Amino acid sequence: MIGEHCVAGDVDRWLREWESMMDGFLPGRGDLMMAGMQTAETVLGQAPVAALDLGGGPGTTTRKLLRRWPACAVSLLDLDPVLLALARLAAPGAAVRQADLSSARWRMAAGGPYDLVLAVMTLHYLPEGRVRQLYAEIRRSLRPGGLLLVAEPMRQRARREHP
Ligand SMILES: C[S@@+](CC[C@H](N)C(=O)[O-])C[C@H]1O[C@@H](n2cnc3c(N)ncnc32)[C@H](O)[C@@H]1O
Repeated sequence: MIGEHCVAGDVDRWLREWESMMDGFLPGRGDLMMAGMQTAETVLGQAPVAALDLGGGPGTTTRKLLRRWPACAVSLLDLDPVLLALARLAAPGAAVRQADLSSARWRMAAGGPYDLVLAVMTLHYLPEGRVRQLYAEIRRSLRPGGLLLVAEPMRQRARREHP
């Protein structure tokens, strides 16, 4: 088990390697996250009280949220048990739970309501029709005036075909 047999240095290294790999898929990801958090404060008029990181993987985004907003109740959902184990080590202050976004049942694990929901490089795993349903489900997990932030790398060609 990750939590029982690894040391803090291992976890930090794995998280750095994860961020570096994700930067390769989405260059400028760190700046994008900073801009997203700034946007959330502007739109909400304050730091979020509760935030949900959908498909949060090993918790690097959740950790950033907690560092910027220590009083925020941050939850992370993901499908992958290994990444969830890492997330519990990376962000011990967060509520980390397993859920599958491919069906509406994820909301049973979601808690909420939230004033901020993030889906960072998560939605491309789902078929387009399912993403549309998920948006409607996320809306039901948001407080009135709440905000959904989505980050996905897109090819130019795909953008022209699906404006
Ligand atoms: C590219 S990673 C991004 C992780 C994280 N958001 C980040 O930016 O570091 C995509 C994540 O989506 C999760 N994921 C994929 N399909 C999922 C599903 N059906 N339900 C929940 N999580 C899923 C994966 O386990 C993985 O952690």
